[in-house]
Amino acid sequence: MLIAQISDTHIVPKHEHWLEEPLTRVDQRLAEVVEFLNQLDPSPDVVLLTGDVTEGEASAYRYFKELIQSLKSPLYVIPGNHDKREEMRSAFKDTPYMPKEGFIQYAIDDYPVRLIGLDTLVEGEVYGRLCEERVRWLENTLEQSPEKPTLIFMHHPPKKIGSKLFDEMICFCPPAFESLIEKDPVIGIIAGHYHHFCVNSFGKKPCFIAPSVAPVHYFAHPEDRDVTALELEDPAITLHLWEGDTGWVSHVRRIKENYKRLDWQSLKKKENVAPCLL
Ligand SMILES: [Fe+2]
Ligand SMILES: [Fe+2]
Repeated sequence: MLIAQISDTHIVPKHEHWLEEPLTRVDQRLAEVVEFLNQLDPSPDVVLLTGDVTEGEASAYRYFKELIQSLKSPLYVIPGNHDKREEMRSAFKDTPYMPKEGFIQYAIDDYPVRLIGLDTLVEGEVYGRLCEERVRWLENTLEQSPEKPTLIFMHHPPKKIGSKLFDEMICFCPPAFESLIEKDPVIGIIAGHYHHFCVNSFGKKPCFIAPSVAPVHYFAHPEDRDVTALELEDPAITLHLWEGDTGWVSHVRRIKENYKRLDWQSLKKKENVAPCLL
């Protein structure tokens, strides 16, 4: 099973620019991602978008849908701190997974790995929260299928990563949430929010924090509080592969590399290099 994770697309209304800066080109970056996913063979079984889909305007969701309409694989979205819950619900009301009311949480049961999306949004706040109600829902949902490997996807990562910048904007959760993650059948968590690729653990399971489609806030030292730049490096996505033999493996792909590439075949022809290129 191949799960493509895209995160933090931050789409703004058509003809506007993210952060009012044309070079952020978030719409083009998403279009490049859709093109990349569509040429993968075999296609991803699902595409999970782990929040900050838009900046919250109804017109931004309309533009988002226009940008992803050619995507071949089924798409599932959950809210991030920039999303607006009701605007998101309304934009995706035709999809069978979107709850009619309340938190935007749901389970996808159609694949070898069960996928559970969580709603960590606290509207108006940059941090996230899983309240007792949302955790209870997760507990009940996990009980419905106790055997099947289950991956949790959510916007805000639930644990600090040693960053002065990010550690104030985690998902605050009651201890019961970590206890649920610790148990079977959960295999781990995938999240977004930081735009930076990093990995830690939570409830003794891997917690994968995905790189973003939108540009990345740059700071040199992991502990730095101040962002010194907005990096315009190419968008990145993650391909999570699940196989019976290997379990869960995550591959990060940067989509449109501008840097110069060396041709692999011509490298292999070099006599002294040929025996082992890795
Ligand atoms: Fe974001
Ligand atoms: Fe976020």
